Parts: sequence; C-alpha cells; structure tokens
Amino acid sequence: MPQQATRIAPSILSADFAQLGAEVAAIDRAGADYIHIDVMDGHFVPNLTIGPGVVGALRKHTKKPFDVHLMISPVDAFVPQFAEAGADIITVHPEAGPHVHRTLQLIRSLGKKAGLSLNPGTPVETALAVLDMVDLVLVMSVNPGFGGQKFIHTQLDKIRILRKAIDAHSAATGRAIDLEVDGGINPETAQLAVDAGADVLVAGTATFQGGPSAYADNIARVRAKPK
Ligand code: DX5
Ligand code: ZN
Repeated sequence: MPQQATRIAPSILSADFAQLGAEVAAIDRAGADYIHIDVMDGHFVPNLTIGPGVVGALRKHTKKPFDVHLMISPVDAFVPQFAEAGADIITVHPEAGPHVHRTLQLIRSLGKKAGLSLNPGTPVETALAVLDMVDLVLVMSVNPGFGGQKFIHTQLDKIRILRKAIDAHSAATGRAIDLEVDGGINPETAQLAVDAGADVLVAGTATFQGGPSAYADNIARVRAKPK
C-alpha cells in the first residue's frame, strides 16, 4: 500500500483556550484532517491540559476525527471516558501502563482506533511488537509535554523503519496504519518527516501562529508532498 497523501492534525494545545470551540471550527474550515488533542496529567508529563469533559464539549464543533493523544499514567481507567467523550483515535504511550497490548485491546473493544506513541527514547521495536494491534503509530519528534519545541532529527530513522514495517504489514493484511509525527513540525521539518515516510503530521505552533485568518495558509504550508 503506497504512502498516502499527507494529512494534517493541528494540535489544539497552541489554540486560544478561552475559545476552544471556535478554534476547532476554524481549523476544520482551514483544512485540518484530524483534530489533535493533547491530554496531559502533570505526572506522566510536566504539564496539565484537557480532560474528557472538554473533549465532549468540543465534539459538537466539528465532524472531523478526534485524534486524542493521552499523556497520562496510569492510562487504562481513563480510556473509556475519552471514548465516550467522542474520541475517534486514542493514542497511548507504552510507558503509561504495565501492559500496553492490553490497553490497545481495551481501546479497540470500545470501537475506537488504537494508536501507540513512541517517545524519542523509546525503541522502535516496541511498536513493531504490537503492529497488528494498532491503527496509528505516533513518532514523537520532541519529548512530550509542551508545544513549541525543536524537532529532534534522530527520530527520522525511526520513521523510515516504521514506514517499511507498515508497508509490509499492509501488503500482507490489506490494513492501513497511519504513521504520524508530533513535535517541532514546520514547513521544513514536515518535508523531512514526509520524505522519511510519515503520512500524518501534528502541527501546533505552525498551525495557530497569526490567528484564524492565517490557519488555512499555515496548514497548506506544512502539507508536504510525498516523493
Ligand atoms: C507535545 C504534544 C504536541 C505539541 C506539538 O507533547 O504532543 O502535540 O502540541 O506542538 P508543536 O507543533 O508546537 O511542536
Ligand atoms: Zn500530541
């Protein structure tokens, strides 16, 4: 299965939190493919953000898929709440619970797409071990916790390895798996990530800079073309 056209998932971490509903509607109109929602607990990562109540409140502002990135530990007890709130994709970190395969089973049992996120220091083999259980692999190109950090170039090798593994898996099973990259994406790093094999790019700072009138141009600028 060839690499798909690049899709953009603006991270609302960089949105105006005082008007999140309007911000979500604005990025929907501006061409977002997924709405990336960063959930942080002040424990797994040193920042606090959004809970299931906010995700539920945002659901009526767009029909685009909610790509919910859970940076919370332990994670299992909260998965049903985010599913109920309207998440379409639920992505977890392997360090966020003792049995990541079981967590992926839980997400799928709720009828949601399951994502696995790899921190810069997490070996790629962790994803290869559970590829049959995931609908999305999220490569973190920064350490999780904050927007506006610098892209870590060493993660491009991980993306290349995953591209090959996902293509082989898809050829054998006919099942698509998204390869998403998160952190420090700008027009330049977007092209590097896509050339390495990414097909979904998370973009927080790069989407929201300049306010709503700039969102469509901002999104277009990071929509790098596959080779
Ligand atoms: C970081 C988050 C990212 C972040 C990306 O922990 O997972 O989604 O918001 O922000 P930028 O695009 O500004 O690096
Ligand atoms: Zn994220």
